[in-house]
Amino acid sequence: MPSRRSFLASTIAGTVAVRNAHAAGRWPEPAPQQDDERYWRDLRREFSIPENEAFFNTCTLGSSPRVVQDAVVNHLRQADATIAHWDYRPENPDWFTGYRPELELRQKLGQLINADADEIALVQNATLGANYMANGLPLRPGDEVIMTNQEHVGCESPWRLRSKRYGIYVKNVAIPVPPESPQQLIDLFLRASTPQTKVWAIPHLTSAFAIRFPVDEMCRIARERGIISVIDGAQCCGHMRLDMRQMGCDAYFSSPHKWLFAPKGSGFLYIRRDRLPETWATVVSGEWDNYNSGAYRFMQIGSGNLSLLKGYEAAIDFHQRIGPERVERRMMALADRLRAGLRQIPQVHFLSPQHPALLCATTVWGIQGLRGRELMDQLWTRARIRVRAMGDTGVRLGCAIYNTTEEIDRTLATARELVRRT
Ligand SMILES: Cc1ncc(COP(=O)(O)O)c(C=O)c1O
Repeated sequence: MPSRRSFLASTIAGTVAVRNAHAAGRWPEPAPQQDDERYWRDLRREFSIPENEAFFNTCTLGSSPRVVQDAVVNHLRQADATIAHWDYRPENPDWFTGYRPELELRQKLGQLINADADEIALVQNATLGANYMANGLPLRPGDEVIMTNQEHVGCESPWRLRSKRYGIYVKNVAIPVPPESPQQLIDLFLRASTPQTKVWAIPHLTSAFAIRFPVDEMCRIARERGIISVIDGAQCCGHMRLDMRQMGCDAYFSSPHKWLFAPKGSGFLYIRRDRLPETWATVVSGEWDNYNSGAYRFMQIGSGNLSLLKGYEAAIDFHQRIGPERVERRMMALADRLRAGLRQIPQVHFLSPQHPALLCATTVWGIQGLRGRELMDQLWTRARIRVRAMGDTGVRLGCAIYNTTEEIDRTLATARELVRRT
């Protein structure tokens, strides 16, 4: 049986081997140009999606690069093999999550979103973040929460439950499809607000029509009016640069298993320091009443999978190595190429916004005479292009860093072909 010393030695050897693989160039150094196709082609090899398949549904779930897969699988194997070495000493590692603060990972997340580690709780996904906020804020019967009519169920339902159970009032403002400008969105929230309004629950980027909300401005306005801003950023971590201090929101949650390519079931909840004391944690274990350790009490939820956190950490490292700004520029360049090409096809309509400030790497579009589901299936059977149908009218196509200009051009060529056929 391996001794503790040999176990630790093999752990370290494994880490060094992974580091050497990166140093040997398996993982390319960032190129100076955002449009350097060779760099992006090399990077594409770090993902295991077959080369002939174009995966544009990162809005639902990302595909993790090999370095993330390896981190999870290697740790899983090692943890199972060495479980008898677990001695519960505080100076030695645990074999699971749920009982320790996991500070290293929270620090890395803090660097990514410009927040302190103790303002961040590791949770499974955005839905859990929304549940914690909807259940945990000190609201009274009659208090109002304003949100849109385009919320994802995971972020609307927690407020609905609180409304039904405790008598808060939830108001949905109707968002035009597509909206015309950031000011139009701000005005809709302002017009819906009354002296009873206590929360603005704002989607940073909506799920169905990819509308990018002017969250910095909205959080500032909310704060001036004494309204709590709770932001659903499920679609945003790894998609666009995030800066909690600049945004000034009271709470923000996300699902980095989408655009950051973290293992499935990786989320976070940020709660601004001055909001922490008044926010209850509704799913709890020991430390539930520990108000000295920031958001730690929100991640005390019993036994969890430490291997997934190893992958989560590797996903942040991967993203940081490429650089959040480079990632965002590349994805926007791909999306702009797609939108420019689609605009040349008269039978194409857009459901996602056209105003530059409301754009992101996701486009929702359709073809006259083709239902969303048909368009989705045709793109797949004709050209191995995976998008997601959004109801009857169109499909959602998100450009991630594993997508290529060739894939965009293939999509446009297939759209033109479909137009000729219909
Ligand atoms: C805007 C938005 N909010 C919330 C969610 C829920 O995310 P999760 O299932 O990871 O909790 C999604 C998922 O697609 C989403 O797009």
